[in-house]
Amino acid sequence: MKKLSQILDLKKIKVVNKNIHKAHGLPNECYTDDEYLSVERKKIFENKWVVIGVGSSIPNVGDAKPFDLLGIPLIILRDKNNKIKVFHNVCSHRGYKILQEKCKIKNVIRCPYHSWSYDMGGKLIATPHIGGMNKHSCNKFSKSKSGLKEVRSHVWLDLIFVNINNNEIDFEKYIEPLSDRWKKFWPIKDRDLIVYSKDYGYFNLNAKCNWKFAIENYCESYHLPWVHPGLNSYSKIDDHYHIQGLPNRFAGQGTMVYNPRFKSSLKFPTFPNWPKDQEHIAEYVALFPNVMLGIHKDHFYAYWLEPVNNEYTKEHMEIFYVGNEAANSKKFKSLRKQNFELWKGVQSEDLNIIEGMQDGRKSPSYNGGNFSPVMDNPTHHFHKWVANNIMK
Ligand code: FES
Ligand SMILES: [Fe+2]
Repeated sequence: MKKLSQILDLKKIKVVNKNIHKAHGLPNECYTDDEYLSVERKKIFENKWVVIGVGSSIPNVGDAKPFDLLGIPLIILRDKNNKIKVFHNVCSHRGYKILQEKCKIKNVIRCPYHSWSYDMGGKLIATPHIGGMNKHSCNKFSKSKSGLKEVRSHVWLDLIFVNINNNEIDFEKYIEPLSDRWKKFWPIKDRDLIVYSKDYGYFNLNAKCNWKFAIENYCESYHLPWVHPGLNSYSKIDDHYHIQGLPNRFAGQGTMVYNPRFKSSLKFPTFPNWPKDQEHIAEYVALFPNVMLGIHKDHFYAYWLEPVNNEYTKEHMEIFYVGNEAANSKKFKSLRKQNFELWKGVQSEDLNIIEGMQDGRKSPSYNGGNFSPVMDNPTHHFHKWVANNIMK
């Protein structure tokens, strides 16, 4: 892997950290250079807590699926104790990528190449003919050293986080500043009320751009009047406030006028302890690096990013409601559909913008840009987070 200084002029990164009046954004190489992406994979996607999916996508014991995190093959699995586990998706024998597609594991994870088999805890339990025909064990081979390699993981609000290099602080500590911020609307005891909607709970969008554009756009409300005229008709710039998490791990914006207008007299049930005098507050926070969260009195969503390469990102939207009736009953189906379409519309409006920024980054005249000292603070916050982590 090349050093960062061989890929770009480090002065361009240092200027990101200046006061917003003097700072520029991240330089073009951070969006266009493949060598840079390998630095980012290591310093960000391996070193930090990163989202790779939701537990609801593997709801039953034995459900398993592969996921590639910027080329790192992983297995996500629900074990016999109903716990999510993540393993490196590579056989300890000769390195075959074991799981190729979503499946149901009955008892063992079997490698298709020579049938070495692992239990759901990753332990190697069968090595057929390893000592010659019909000899399934071998004196000189110890199974106990050849299990699947588990990846450090943690589930929070159904989101599956991994820390590949096992070097970040404990997840509970990591999330505390954001979790504490939300206690006033959403006490911790109410957080397990969220239920994934099976019919209108998921959509994905393919963004022809670098993953960072999605985050930096999500953080700010400056673009609302021009990019989201529909949303802006009831939720204007003035009705928003900025959020900059400290220590620097998240940023975003809140609105004080959350009040979607659906065609129905029915209303979704709300979180039981959401304060009545704050029911029009909703917050939209990007938790770095790759998940954008939205909390409202009546639903929660997580919009997470799967970076594929510098210029291609898959965006996954997962929507949750308060209790099973809201999430899955016929009664609320039309409301769920309207809410789904609202978010799909908004996120699609953003797609055009973030793809346009990718195109703009091909201009050699662009130096990372000059921020609005008032409106771009959360975005600047994110750029600083990236700059600090890749310099480490
Ligand atoms: S590579 Fe998996 S059993 Fe041989
Ligand atoms: Fe937007």
